[in-house]
Amino acid sequence: MSNFQTLIWLEASRTLRLLDQRRLPNEEVFLNCETLLQVTDAIRTLAVRGAPAIGVTAAYGVVIGVQEEIALNRTVSRSGFDNIIAELAATRPTAVNLFWALERVRKTGYAGLKNGLNGTELRNHLLKEADLIFAEDERDHHLLGENGARLIPDRARILTHCNAGALACADYGTALGVIRAAHTAGKEIQVFADETRPLLQGSRLTTWELLQDKIPVTLICDNMAAHCMSKGMIDLVIVGADRIAANGDSANKIGTYSVALAAEAHNLPFYIAAPTSTIDFSLTNGSEIPIEERDPDEVRFFGEKRTAPAEVKVYNPAFDVTPARLITAIITEKGVFKPDQLEQINVSP
Ligand code: MRU
Repeated sequence: MSNFQTLIWLEASRTLRLLDQRRLPNEEVFLNCETLLQVTDAIRTLAVRGAPAIGVTAAYGVVIGVQEEIALNRTVSRSGFDNIIAELAATRPTAVNLFWALERVRKTGYAGLKNGLNGTELRNHLLKEADLIFAEDERDHHLLGENGARLIPDRARILTHCNAGALACADYGTALGVIRAAHTAGKEIQVFADETRPLLQGSRLTTWELLQDKIPVTLICDNMAAHCMSKGMIDLVIVGADRIAANGDSANKIGTYSVALAAEAHNLPFYIAAPTSTIDFSLTNGSEIPIEERDPDEVRFFGEKRTAPAEVKVYNPAFDVTPARLITAIITEKGVFKPDQLEQINVSP
């Protein structure tokens, strides 16, 4: 367990409470979402972020959308239900966990509607599914952590990029889950956290999260990673993923690809840690993964301060794709796989 709660359903107020990640590390404040719009805004603006956390949030978002329909005395129809799901699906395009969770909830909702459940019964039925997705997320990331920890030598110095921790999941984390499990097993590991421009998930979130658990962490700027490798300061790399194609090509936070190239040049293992819900078997390779492009001002500004001319043209892709050939292994809750072995995974429907 981590020392904080990224997201939690509060049944007494029928709201979803999110730790507002836009405000970390300066303030620990919570957002209580009671409308669908609040949930979609929270996902779009990265109050909640990280592939698994977005999926779990969206599942509760459907419950909130249905609650709103009930409060307006509307009968929840199949098309009304589909509209709620469509609003959530339109928030961010890359992390497949969002669509994976929404499809699970959609199936649950359709079954409920077919069986003639009334609004409140349907809402309760959907809440059970969202709670299950939450619980599975916690369980799977602990399993993933155990599977990955076996690959980590004692005294390893590990580079990570972005935040793939408890802040990015219901709890525990993927890349940081492996790191947590290795630390708990008594391994004396040290983490190097890339700052992760433009939104600084590494410096704002990963360092904050690791310091809470007293795991030694050193912050570096993104452009220092290859230098650290060349100086023999890094033993291996572990990052998360937002979507993995069937051939193992993996989309993750922009900059991950350059880290993988640098790791290859220095002969260092490069691991992806992700639950199997991040694998999109419908895509044959990474070129088919949709890459989100975000507001140019994220690049023109450093935090609140503008650091580029207002009129300068900007390109701001939020993710890149690391080709399978650069990935040593993919660590999941079902085991550790070479990228070309993913088809062995029996993903339950
Ligand atoms: O834009 P973000 O902050 O949602 O991007 C998050 C990442 O790229 C993470 O590395 C990924 O979602 C894995 S989280 C376990």
